[in-house]
Amino acid sequence: METHVGHERSIGTSSDTSFHRLSSQMEAHQNDIEHVLITEEQIQQKIAEVGEQLSADYADRDLLLVGVLKGAFVFMADLSRHVRLPMEFDFMAVSSYGAATQTSGVVRILKDLDHEILGRHVLLVEDIVDSGLTLSYLLKNLRTRRPASLEVCALMQKTGVQQVPLDIKYRLFEIPSVFVVGYGLDYGERFRNLPFVGTLRPEVYRDAVS
Ligand code: IMP
Repeated sequence: METHVGHERSIGTSSDTSFHRLSSQMEAHQNDIEHVLITEEQIQQKIAEVGEQLSADYADRDLLLVGVLKGAFVFMADLSRHVRLPMEFDFMAVSSYGAATQTSGVVRILKDLDHEILGRHVLLVEDIVDSGLTLSYLLKNLRTRRPASLEVCALMQKTGVQQVPLDIKYRLFEIPSVFVVGYGLDYGERFRNLPFVGTLRPEVYRDAVS
């Protein structure tokens, strides 16, 4: 199910349309992006597969997608359109790294759910699991509200850095422990709109601190 991706990827192997889109996005960010780690095509293909799986797994259940803002908004929008079932949406916002690239380990809820989840089948949609502290906190918090079921769908998980054991039922990509941007993920609120996931050139961080 999940795909492991390395550090580098040639951008010339995509289909014409996505190659064109990718290269124009690359052009706009050529001074910022170092490598494309996961292409738009790979992301979309994997989302279609997981969408199929979710459509089967939740066929007889009332699904509530809970997105973790801000990072998961792009992934959640695409994923939900591949699930052929009626569903509802809610969102939580938690504190992020800000302009830092390392977690502080302290999770703060900035926005709570709008509705009760008692007795609901909740699928928590996360962009990326790094140390796992954010997800672990969220799961603990949501479990106290007694949903009928609670599962996690994470776009990416970094290898070898998880500090807490977590049960992630749907995980699309496993990536090396590097800081990435794009497809919802930011660095200092930028790069969320990139259709791919990539790493930043070191100068971007240097310029941010100088
Ligand atoms: P964790 O608590 O260390 O697992 O961090 C999870 C949260 O940190 C994610 O939901 C993201 O908001 C943010 N994050 C972790 N790694 C990255 C990254 O490589 N790029 C951008 N944000 C990240």
